Amino acid sequence: MSLAERRVLLGVSGGIAAYKSCELVRRLREGGAEVRVVMTEAATHFVSPTTFQALSGQSVRVSLWDAQAEAAMGHIELARWAERILVAPASAGLLARLAQGMADDLLTTLCLASPAPLFLAPAMNQQMWAHPAVQANVSTLRQRGTQLLGPAAGAQACGDIGSGRMLEAHELRDALLASFAVGALAGLNVLVSAGPTYEDIDPVRFIGNRSSGRMGFAVAQAAAEAGARVTLVAGPVSLPTPPGVMQRTDVRSAAQMHAAVLAAAAQADIYIAAAAVGDYRPLEVSAQKLKKQGGSGLLLQLGENPDILASLSAQERHPFLVGFAAETHDVAGYAQDKLQRKGLDMIAANRVGEGLGFEAADNALSLYWAGGAVELPRAGKTALARQLITHVAERYRAGRA
Ligand code: PMT
Repeated sequence: MSLAERRVLLGVSGGIAAYKSCELVRRLREGGAEVRVVMTEAATHFVSPTTFQALSGQSVRVSLWDAQAEAAMGHIELARWAERILVAPASAGLLARLAQGMADDLLTTLCLASPAPLFLAPAMNQQMWAHPAVQANVSTLRQRGTQLLGPAAGAQACGDIGSGRMLEAHELRDALLASFAVGALAGLNVLVSAGPTYEDIDPVRFIGNRSSGRMGFAVAQAAAEAGARVTLVAGPVSLPTPPGVMQRTDVRSAAQMHAAVLAAAAQADIYIAAAAVGDYRPLEVSAQKLKKQGGSGLLLQLGENPDILASLSAQERHPFLVGFAAETHDVAGYAQDKLQRKGLDMIAANRVGEGLGFEAADNALSLYWAGGAVELPRAGKTALARQLITHVAERYRAGRA
């Protein structure tokens, strides 16, 4: 995959993350893309248009009222020229103006006037990002098909820590690259869950499981390689986000995973549930570390967690559902029972133990769907995930043919 001869219009709005967009222009051009930069007036207070001009090799536009620039390439022509529009950073103000459908400067006018897919890389203070007004704008934009890339969580320029950091230049470049892909899942939104869940008992103890997240992360990577826009919901794991994955949400408990998956599923065409979700959680979480009871033992009362896959399959409109099943015996029997009971389109069963399944580098899968089955013999999780994705794409397309 390459960006050779791809035409990318990069919008830059006002935010300190604008400095990262200089690197982004460089990365896009290294990939072969032709890049034209349009800045808002506010963005020019952070980075000079001359910097972007030097990096893109093209004149940079700021104003709708620049007669000379309009004569060279009018804004409608520029809107038609673009194959993709990426706004990075997208400030809270810009998100609000786009959500309102405003055309009060060159950049917002271009976003309205262009048929090109619109990608936004939000960047702002974590408190602003969490504000209900911003989240309402984001949800309006998503409903219209705008792709949100990030934001990531971490240390911010203002000293805060939280969600709101713009994705790194290479991550944005990868996302654009994936959007041009013509793989088996090109153009589809794929949601993947991975890793374990932790159910807290007290501030230092929890109930967890042995899932490392490797299988789910390999599935997310394979889906991105196949051209999908991938959202990954990860339990507590220590794995880097695979290349090409556009959005990652980290969660801890089954309840948090349930909420994150259900929120993202509204946008998803396919949901692949590789996570090992805890079936039970302590009904009471002690605020203080529990102390030994002098030999009398400890009785924990557990309540059942909501079943994420079953919640989705109960919805009238839901993504194509792929479950996983990890079993120690009667793999086929239990997997086919889960396929039916949870209302799934496909299930990938793995026998755990003997260096397979949880934590291991290798796995082996048996795939089942209504009226079919296929064996994927022992292999590394990356290779196996690619084979799984090929079958998922085939079944998904067959279901819609
Ligand atoms: O992470 P690794 O170390 O690489 O290991 C990979 C794996 C073995 C964890 C993975 O391949 C796997 O099999 N994941 C599913 C584990 C499992 O047994 O799940 P389950 O039988 O509890 O659930 C069946 C399906 O329902 C799963 O898709 C699960 O995500 C889903 N589920 C389960 C419980 C729940 N409350 N909600 C759910 O959606």
